[in-house]
Amino acid sequence: MNFHNILINWYLQNKRDLPWRNTTNSYQIWLSEIMLQQTRVAQGMPYFFSFTKNFPTVFDLANADEEQVLKLWQGLGYYSRARNLHKTAQYVANELNGVFPESFKELLKLKGVGEYTAAAIASFSYNEAVPVVDGNVFRVLSRYFGIESDITLPATKKEFTELAFELMPKDNPAIFNQAIMEFGALQCVPKSPDCTVCVFNESCVALQKRKVDVLPVKSKKVKVTNRFFNYLILEDAVGNTLIQKRASKGIWHNLYEFPLLETTAIVEFDFVSTAVKNEIFPSYTIISIEECNNATVIHKLSHQHLHIQFWKIKIKDVIENGVDAYNLKTFPFPIVIYNFIEKQEINC
Ligand code: ADE
Repeated sequence: MNFHNILINWYLQNKRDLPWRNTTNSYQIWLSEIMLQQTRVAQGMPYFFSFTKNFPTVFDLANADEEQVLKLWQGLGYYSRARNLHKTAQYVANELNGVFPESFKELLKLKGVGEYTAAAIASFSYNEAVPVVDGNVFRVLSRYFGIESDITLPATKKEFTELAFELMPKDNPAIFNQAIMEFGALQCVPKSPDCTVCVFNESCVALQKRKVDVLPVKSKKVKVTNRFFNYLILEDAVGNTLIQKRASKGIWHNLYEFPLLETTAIVEFDFVSTAVKNEIFPSYTIISIEECNNATVIHKLSHQHLHIQFWKIKIKDVIENGVDAYNLKTFPFPIVIYNFIEKQEINC
């Protein structure tokens, strides 16, 4: 049997029943593929259900407020995906009469849709013979064929795309694309795959050459920056607090947060107290400042590690535009802040 037959047989016997696999609706497939970028299936699934329930069509998503979209996206991370999702929904609804482009080339023009996503939608919705090349596909093909090219290079992407295209049965690209991704997700996993039960264990080059654990080759290491955030949790005379929308580009754009004091290292009480009284809130009358010790957390993003401390500041004044505890939870927050709010109801 050839590569695609073995792969597809394996898929038919082992595939998970995932909701976006039971449809060719391009809106739903687009939603699922945007959600599954940098996200595991188990994590993305509840979001897929929530979005398709709240926004059954691309028009519903287009007509929603960005804040509602961000709120439903809360916890999924990489929030630019949600903002692009919303803009693209508006573009498809308003400029394309709600109809998604039907070819790989046209799909690529949509905001937030790169080669991988365009190939996924074109093949799953319209059966166009374009291969998906994601991390799973790099892993499966580099191991099976013993390819040692560096997968961070654009030339390697081209090499794998061409190879996947050759391997793909042109009369059923959708099943091939689903199958190779599923095989990478379930069998040919990054760490310690169980090659003894693998359907390819007689022909896999990496297995024969004992190179399973070094393939695929990935040269660039991500440089991680450490940042130090001090969130200032005001509590005014009527129990309200203050939040603000992150206007700057970069992480968490358009999400909400508490007033932030960013420092170059972890700081102590005296530093925060001086900054709060003299620079940040000079017009408030401070009753007390207290660090929420049990809330300190290191929140790891792909390129940044955020060292977060929370400081509770009681004031005598009443904050203009203060938010009460009930309404606080309705705003879209980075998940690390939302978790703090939930926990804070119990202590700190
Ligand atoms: N990851 C990205 N796209 C996927 C899909 N369609 N099915 C399963 N996992 C995926």
